[in-house]
Amino acid sequence: MENQLILDVQGLKKSFGKVQALTDVNLQLHRGEVLGFIGPNGAGKSTTIRVILGLIKESGGSATVFGEDAWKDSVKIHKNLAYVPGDVYLWPNLTGGQTIDMLLHMSGQTHTAKTDELIKEFKLDTSKKNRTYSKGNRQKIALIAAFSTDVDLYIFDEPTSGLDPLNELIFQQRVAELKDHGKSVLLSSHILSEVEKMCDTIAIIREGKVIETGSLESMQHLTRNVVAITTASPMDGLDKAKGVHQLNFKNDQHTIAEFTVDSDEIGAVMDLLTKSSIVQLKTTPPTLEDLFLRYYHSDAGQKVGE
Ligand SMILES: Nc1ncnc2c1ncn2[C@@H]1O[C@H](COP(=O)(O)OP(=O)(O)O)[C@@H](O)[C@H]1O
Ligand SMILES: [Mg+2]
Repeated sequence: MENQLILDVQGLKKSFGKVQALTDVNLQLHRGEVLGFIGPNGAGKSTTIRVILGLIKESGGSATVFGEDAWKDSVKIHKNLAYVPGDVYLWPNLTGGQTIDMLLHMSGQTHTAKTDELIKEFKLDTSKKNRTYSKGNRQKIALIAAFSTDVDLYIFDEPTSGLDPLNELIFQQRVAELKDHGKSVLLSSHILSEVEKMCDTIAIIREGKVIETGSLESMQHLTRNVVAITTASPMDGLDKAKGVHQLNFKNDQHTIAEFTVDSDEIGAVMDLLTKSSIVQLKTTPPTLEDLFLRYYHSDAGQKVGE
């Protein structure tokens, strides 16, 4: 079915005693989409995921997966879902290889050629006991099992927090492959730049509430890079360049500047700056904090990012 709603979370609330972990979470994930679930530590990402998985019961609102109730129908839902937690706990005395097969067995899957391919790709030594593995290696084990599982929905809770850049890249490629096969992916992270490339839609959560949801394009204003630059000759035309905001020249000669630039205009702006002979250049991707600041600025009636 086209545009089938795989995951639907509406007005979700969750309290632990007096702690209101979730106050208003709304998420929609369609077939073949990757949804980035972004927010700082303690914002409520894992709690939301645990409700979606039916591990804890919501205190209000609703969560449905494949049109079924996340709590009541969790057994049925789990047959068609793969999950990798942020902190992977594994049986200490099994080897990595035994663990992968065990995880596959538990979800009714078998060790396939793809499993071997993943083990090779992630360069995992499967002969070691789990208790000797680092956090990153434990994560790899869970990721290998998840990626070699054939289901419709994949949920990754901060999956790359222990991975080095090379493995992070493999992860990104494998997520792209799932998407190509029409699978749906929910991906949580507290680092926007780690997941933004992979996601069709991003939902931003802060203090238990989803405060912004949209396509990356619609949030382009939120994904500006900060540029600090020094050139040999004056940066003519920069003030009129498309996608350049908050331009601030640091000297009268206009050879030192700081500004922010829309992600999709970086190339054109760099071409322009090259004409002034770049001497020094530093770009910083937007942090979640920048993003929240912008959000609150826009809330106060100012145009976002201006
Ligand atoms: N079992 C629990 N009991 C009490 N408070 C909890 C429990 N689980 C989570 N919380 C609280 O809920 C909030 C959200 O936590 P969490 O969902 O783990 O955030 P995130 O995954 O975004 O870092 C935090 O304030 C956390 O302390
Ligand atoms: Mg978490």
